[in-house]
Amino acid sequence: MVKRAGGSLLLSVAIDPRSQRPVSTQLYVILRDMILSAAFSAGDRLPASRTLARDLGLSRTTVIEAFDRLTAEGLVESRTGSGTYVSVALRAERPRSAAASERAAAAIAPRLSVVMGEAVARFGDRQRLPHAPRAFTTALPAFDAFPMAQWARLSARYWRGGRDDVMGYGDPCGEARLRRVIASHLRANRGIACDAEQVFIVGGAQQAFHLIGTTLLDPRDKVWFENPGAIGARNSLIATGAELVPVPVDDAGLRVDEGLRMSPRFRLAFVTPSHQQPLGSVMSLERRFALLHAAEQAGAWIIEDDYDGEFFFGGRPPPTLKSVDTTGLVIYVGTFSKSLFPALRLGYLVAPPALVDVFRAIMCKFLQGVPSSTQSVVAEFIDEGHFASHIRRMRRLYAERHDVLRQAARRKLDGLLLLMPTDSGLHSVGYLDPAAREIEIARAADERRITVSPIGRFAIVPIAIRGLVLGFGGVRPEEIEAGVDVLAEVLERHARRPLRAGARP
Ligand SMILES: Cc1ncc(COP(=O)(O)O)c(C=O)c1O
Repeated sequence: MVKRAGGSLLLSVAIDPRSQRPVSTQLYVILRDMILSAAFSAGDRLPASRTLARDLGLSRTTVIEAFDRLTAEGLVESRTGSGTYVSVALRAERPRSAAASERAAAAIAPRLSVVMGEAVARFGDRQRLPHAPRAFTTALPAFDAFPMAQWARLSARYWRGGRDDVMGYGDPCGEARLRRVIASHLRANRGIACDAEQVFIVGGAQQAFHLIGTTLLDPRDKVWFENPGAIGARNSLIATGAELVPVPVDDAGLRVDEGLRMSPRFRLAFVTPSHQQPLGSVMSLERRFALLHAAEQAGAWIIEDDYDGEFFFGGRPPPTLKSVDTTGLVIYVGTFSKSLFPALRLGYLVAPPALVDVFRAIMCKFLQGVPSSTQSVVAEFIDEGHFASHIRRMRRLYAERHDVLRQAARRKLDGLLLLMPTDSGLHSVGYLDPAAREIEIARAADERRITVSPIGRFAIVPIAIRGLVLGFGGVRPEEIEAGVDVLAEVLERHARRPLRAGARP
C-alpha cells in the first residue's frame, strides 16, 4: 500500500519470510506491480533505500538489489544525489494491471479474423481427444502391446548421434529417409505408386487436413463431407471458412448421387473409403469410380483419410482410393496415431504430382516441420522391420479384441444395442432404437467410468439413426468384458424401449 505524507511516499509491503523466493525478488515484484498498476505516478520519488530497509526490516543491500532490477528495466531512474524516481516514461499510456486486464478480457469478445471467428462458433463440442484408454475409448491403439523396449533402444541410439546430425533444422517437408520408407510401405501395402518427393511429413492427419484446406480452399467453397463423418477433419476444414456439404453415407460409402444433387459445384471431397468414420462401411468400387468421375467433372480435389486402413483383419483389404485414381485429384493422408501411437503427432500426405511443388513451397517458406528426432526414430523403426511386424501382430490382436466385444455383446446386449461387426479398425458401431437419447446414455456411461461416443456427435446436420461408437482396439479383453456388463446396465436403465431383434436402422 502507498500513503503520501507531504512530498514523500510511505510504503507498507508484505514480505513473506517463509517463501522460497529471495526477499529482494519479492520486493522487486511488489514494487514493479505497484508501478505498473499506477499505485505510483510517473515522477514519484521512492523512499530512500536506507529508509525503506529500516521500515521493512530488511537489509539495505536487499533493497538496492530490488531497485537495481527496476532501474535495469527502465521502470525507475536514479538521479545522482537526489534519489530514485518512478520513470517519467510511464506518463505515456500503459498496460493496465493484470487483474484489470483479466476483467476486461472477460467482458470484451476478442477480435478474431472473420474466418476463424465464424469457425470457432461452428466447432462442435469435442473437448479433446482421449489420453488414456478405458472401455470403450475410441481413437487409441493398444498401448499395452507396443514394443516399448525397441522404441527406447532406437531413441537412445538416435540421441547418441553426432551433434551436427541431430541438433539443426531438418528438411521442412520431412526427413528424406522417412519419406522414402513411407513411399515403399505404401507401395507394398496400400497399392499406392508414389515416390518420396510426393510424401510430405506433418504433425498428424489433422494438420494435413488443415494444410490442404488452407492451401486449396477459399472461404465459402463447397466441401463434400461424409455425414456422419470424422470430427477432427470437419473442424480442420471448418477452420478454413469452407462450407461443408453434409453428404449422407450408406453401406457402400459416400452417396455420390446425393452429393451431386446437393452441390454439383464442389471444390473438395473428404472421404474415409477404407473404413467410414464412424459407421464402418467400406466404399464400393463403383462409388469410388463415381466419386473420381464427379471430382473430375467439378475440378475438385479429394482427400482420402486412410486413418486405420492398415488394420484389416477380415481377409483381403479393400484397395485405397488413391490406388485406383487415374485423375490425379486424390490427396492421400496417413497417420501414425493408430499404427504407432498418437503422442508422436506424426502423419503424412501424399500429394498428386500437380500439387508437389505447391506443398514444397508452402512447407519450405513458412512451416518448419515435425521434430527430426521423432521422424528419424520412426524411419529406423520401419526400416528395421519392427513396423511391419507390429502391424501384423496388431491385426491379430484387434481381431481378437473385436471378437471378445462381439461375444460379450451377444451375451449381454441382445435387444439393447445392435452391434455391427467390422472387418477392420479399432472400433465398431452399435445401433440404438431411433428414439434413444444418445447423449443421456453417454453421460450415464461416463458416470460409470466407461466411454461411449454417440453417433450424433459425428453428424454435421441431424441424422435419423441413433447409436454408439465403441472402441475396442486399445482396451484389454477383461476390460471389454467388464465394460459390456456396465453398458448393459446403463442401457437397461436409459434406452427407452428395447431394440427389435435384427432391426438395423
Ligand atoms: C477419422 C480420423 N482420421 C485421422 C485421425 C488421426 O488424426 P491425427 O493423425 O491428427 O492424430 C483420427 C483420430 O482419431 C480419426 O478419427
